[in-house]
Amino acid sequence: MDHAEQLDSIYLRKDFTQRLFMAKAKSRKAYVCTECGSEAAKWQGQCPDCKAWNTYKEVNLGPAASPSIAASNKAGFAGALSELKTLSEVDVEEAPRFSSGMTEFDRVLGGGFVKGSAVLIGGHPGAGKSTILLQVLCHVAQSMNALYVSGEESLQQIAARAQRLGLPTNNLKMLAETSAENIVTVAEQEKPGIIVIDSIQVMYMNGVDSVPGGVGQVKESAAFLTRYAKQSGTVLLIVGHVTKDNSLAGPMTLSHIIDTQIMLGNTDDSRFRMMRATKNRFGQVNELGIFAMTETGMKEVKNPSAIFLSRTQEATSGSIISVLWEGTRPLLVEIQGLVVESQLGNPRRVTVGVEQNRLAMLLAILTRHGGIFTSDQDVFLNVVGGVKITETSADLASLLTVVSSLRDTPLPQDLVAFGEVGLAGEIRPVANGQERLVEAAKHGFSRAIVPAANQPRKPIPGLTVIAVKKLSEALEAI
Ligand code: TYD
Ligand code: MG
Repeated sequence: MDHAEQLDSIYLRKDFTQRLFMAKAKSRKAYVCTECGSEAAKWQGQCPDCKAWNTYKEVNLGPAASPSIAASNKAGFAGALSELKTLSEVDVEEAPRFSSGMTEFDRVLGGGFVKGSAVLIGGHPGAGKSTILLQVLCHVAQSMNALYVSGEESLQQIAARAQRLGLPTNNLKMLAETSAENIVTVAEQEKPGIIVIDSIQVMYMNGVDSVPGGVGQVKESAAFLTRYAKQSGTVLLIVGHVTKDNSLAGPMTLSHIIDTQIMLGNTDDSRFRMMRATKNRFGQVNELGIFAMTETGMKEVKNPSAIFLSRTQEATSGSIISVLWEGTRPLLVEIQGLVVESQLGNPRRVTVGVEQNRLAMLLAILTRHGGIFTSDQDVFLNVVGGVKITETSADLASLLTVVSSLRDTPLPQDLVAFGEVGLAGEIRPVANGQERLVEAAKHGFSRAIVPAANQPRKPIPGLTVIAVKKLSEALEAI
């Protein structure tokens, strides 16, 4: 008797065992934090996990045997017991993947979709989640069975959009449905290789008595659909809207259920969207994909290294270009600094796109090793384009732009700078120095201040490299 049969017989026998099972299967009440999804048996004023106040709500999570097991058993995909193996017997083959049809999307995924994986696509309403997924599914449907489940828009709306975008509509299967159980029932018949759920906030499961969009429903529906994806080898793409504070409404909770979480975000330029993985069991999380929202849908920007550069012709103080490294390629960004006399006892250090503590540290180094004081100045630092800098290579450019603003002296417009600044005022090398310089030269920059250790071995045509070991040398150079 396999596992599924055992469970079946428990359902069927009208004896003590069944009553015991049923008693156990009685609804399970729990308190769930609406911010992070943390669960507790008792109500609590403050969530011990995310520290939010008054976020615990009572939810009915369905039978204790977990709706997933009961319902999945009914739906017939409970599966046999897993085989026991020694570590050496485990296959180490690469996970089988297939392409989304967009190289930028594939790049963020870590090389395409992994069969049997669950991917959450998060973003604000209007970010373009439905659009890009419709484009991807119409493409993928040309070579495999694909299912698009919409719980938000009508099928007519979606069909009209597909037509307007000129997408091939002949193979893609569409379903207007919000019941997770019904979706799995249809999927079991159709056996799609890929499913889109748009969106998880409108999905529900019977037996879970919070409203759709509530933490309980979102969590249980996602877990249930993910189980199906894993057992059938289907790729599951779950759309999740994020709220204003950037959390996925309730479904922050989903992070540990799904394999990959991708965020589609706005940039300062409303035409462009940034796509980034914030969790990926099957790849790196540092790849950045850039798309443009056009009249004909989301278009990939294949060489985005300079899209955030839009400097005016006139040179102004407090502006410099640095070369970041995003995943596997360079990205040129403008860093702006503004230094003004402070009216406050405790001058302000405000950053956008850079960590605030990093700026405070850099200013301390500037005082100590550059002899430049900012303790009576408010200092603002801004990365143009909505880019968030997570590496240290922007240190040097950040300091140079601050100094430029403080002295009200523009930096040359053909200048780029990068390098980490250490606490001793030393300029430390960064990874991929050569590639960064080549990219800068490609975009017409002719001077670069870089760490001495990043000095290229062979000269780069058109580029004068100023290699510096210490902050004081960099300050002299400007
Ligand atoms: P949508 O994919 O519906 O966003 P989401 O599913 O993330 O909420 O995109 C909606 C926005 O995109 C809407 O403001 C209109 C715009 N848009 C275009 O500019 N061009 C297009 O071809 C499409 C389909 C949408
Ligand atoms: Mg949508």
